[in-house]
Amino acid sequence: MRTALVTGAGRGIGLATAKAFLGAGWRVLALDKDFGTFDAEGAVERIQFDLTALSAIPALAGSLGPIDTLVNNAGVLYCEPYEAIPEAHKREILAVNLEAPVALITALAPQMVERKGGRIVNVASVAAFTGHPDLWYGITKAGILNLTKSWATRLGPHGVLVNAVAPGPTHTEMYEQLPQSRKDMVTRSVYSGRAAKPAEVAEAILWLGTASPEYLNGTTLDCNNGSYPR
Ligand SMILES: NC(=O)c1ccc[n+]([C@@H]2O[C@H](COP(=O)([O-])OP(=O)(O)OC[C@H]3O[C@@H](n4cnc5c(N)ncnc54)[C@H](O)[C@@H]3O)[C@@H](O)[C@H]2O)c1
Repeated sequence: MRTALVTGAGRGIGLATAKAFLGAGWRVLALDKDFGTFDAEGAVERIQFDLTALSAIPALAGSLGPIDTLVNNAGVLYCEPYEAIPEAHKREILAVNLEAPVALITALAPQMVERKGGRIVNVASVAAFTGHPDLWYGITKAGILNLTKSWATRLGPHGVLVNAVAPGPTHTEMYEQLPQSRKDMVTRSVYSGRAAKPAEVAEAILWLGTASPEYLNGTTLDCNNGSYPR
C-alpha cells in the first residue's frame, strides 16, 4: 500500500485530499495541529504537529517511514491590513506557508531519490498570480510556485515529480473568514459563479500525486475556474 503525507489534513482541502487518497486505496498520514473536525476513516494515521516548529521537522520526517507522495497543503491567511499585521502573524504565515513545505521536501526528498520515485504536490493559490490583500499570504503563494520549479529542477533527474495546484475560491474555513465584499468579488470573477468544493481541488491534487504523466514536472495546475479578481 502506498503512503501519502498530507499536511493541513484536519479540515478543508487537506481533509478532502486525505479522503481522496484513502478512496484511491492509499495509506494516509494526516498531519495537522488541530483534528477537531477530522472525520476521515480507513488506513489513516493522525500526526498532531504544529508546522511552525520548523526545527522539529527533520526528526518528524525521519520517523515516518517511506513516503510516496507528499502534499504540502497546510496554510494560514489573516484578514488584516498590511500596516496592522502583527509580527507574530507574519512569522506564522511565512513558516507554515513557505518554510515548512521547504523543510518537509528537504527532509523527505532523499528517500524519494533513493527509491528513484515519488511525488510532491504543493498547494499554492490564484493569489500567487494576482497578489492578495494579505500581502504576506500572496507572497508565500508566489514563493510556493517558485520553489516548485526549483525542486523539480533538483529532483526531476532522479524520477521525482514536484508540481503545484493553484486553487481559486474554495468553500473552507479559510474562505469563510473573508469579508463578504471579497467573496462577492471572487464569485463574480469565476465562470460558474460559485466557489469550488474542497473535493474538486482534492481531485486535482490526487491526480498530480498519483497518476499524472511523468513528463508533467515543475508545473502548476490552475483550479480557479477563471478567477483572477482585481
Ligand atoms: N479556501 C480557499 O479559497 C483557498 C484558495 C486558494 C488556496 N488555498 C490554499 O489551500 C490550502 C488549504 O486551505 P483551506 O482552504 O483548506 O484552509 P483551512 O483553514 O480550512 O485549513 C487549513 C488547515 O491547515 C492547518 N494548519 C494551519 N496552520 C498549521 C500549523 N501551524 N501546523 C499544522 N497545521 C496547520 C489548519 O489547522 C487547517 O486544518 C492552503 O494552503 C490555502 O492557502 C485555499
